[in-house]
Amino acid sequence: MKSGTLAFIPHRIGQMLRKSGPAPDCALFLRLMLKDGKLKTFLLRFLRLRVSPDALLRIRRMPLPLEERARLFCQAISLINVNETYKTTGRDRTRLADKAILKLAACKDAVRLLDIGVSDGSASLTLLSDLPNLREAVLTDLHPLLYAWGPRLFRVFLDGQQRLLGIKLLGLYIILSFTTPRSAQGFETISTLNPLLSERLGIAAIRPFNALCDRLSKPVDIIKCANVLNRAYFSEADLRTAVANLALSLVEAGHLVISQNNARYTGGEAYFILKRQGPDMVLEEEQGGHEVLRLFQGDGEGRT
Ligand SMILES: C[S@@+](CC[C@H](N)C(=O)[O-])C[C@H]1O[C@@H](n2cnc3c(N)ncnc32)[C@H](O)[C@@H]1O
Repeated sequence: MKSGTLAFIPHRIGQMLRKSGPAPDCALFLRLMLKDGKLKTFLLRFLRLRVSPDALLRIRRMPLPLEERARLFCQAISLINVNETYKTTGRDRTRLADKAILKLAACKDAVRLLDIGVSDGSASLTLLSDLPNLREAVLTDLHPLLYAWGPRLFRVFLDGQQRLLGIKLLGLYIILSFTTPRSAQGFETISTLNPLLSERLGIAAIRPFNALCDRLSKPVDIIKCANVLNRAYFSEADLRTAVANLALSLVEAGHLVISQNNARYTGGEAYFILKRQGPDMVLEEEQGGHEVLRLFQGDGEGRT
């Protein structure tokens, strides 16, 4: 083994331990997490409590009203770490982007919508309910399913790409984040779809879709991409690749709406809209100064 590899091991173990901790995965813990503020900080930072994918399975089975299960599910998924990203989401957080999409949709007879990286779909709910001329909605994510195996005291979890995510041993959730995929044979699947979307809107599933390389066979009129194409997750080159790739799933003159929630933006949200014009994606509108806007404005420099 090379010395560089040896030096990397303590760093990797440190990273792993920072992300790991006891995972109660119960309703009481998730209700406390909903309170935000100092208590949340205390539980996450000082007690180092974590959420494992088992929480999603448990919430689905809880004999609670739909709205309550949906709230707990959304809280749980928001705290689940899936290798390169957290699946943080929330209802009504993409208000500005949704308003812009409603305006675009008002100029069309019927709308086919593709939503990229929806997490559990909570942030898609309002738009799907409010779009009067919605013909079809395709909800997608890189990790629409997680996988679990094992008895209660020893659980093994895989992410949506079947890479080893972590193990839960006697209530301790150890996040491993391995990069090599393995077989999920014998594992049970854990759907990340929020119960509110399935039980109220009749959405059957979130489809697997990688913004960097996947393409719909039938292009849509509007693509929503909220809280995915951020600098925290993607390099500039990957951001450009993602936009160029998403353009291939748009009809001519279709729109891609890219938004981000962050306290540094006025009103907590920024977005911009790119319109497909032949092979180009041309900036049509922006609000709030989205952190990746610069890559896609100007005289063709940012065009894909
Ligand atoms: C922070 S959540 C955003 C959820 C939701 N769109 C919202 O605004 O609340 C980011 C989501 O993007 C997904 N994601 C990460 N990389 C992706 C990629 N290359 N293609 C598609 N989805 C991706 C993650 O799995 C995660 O569910």
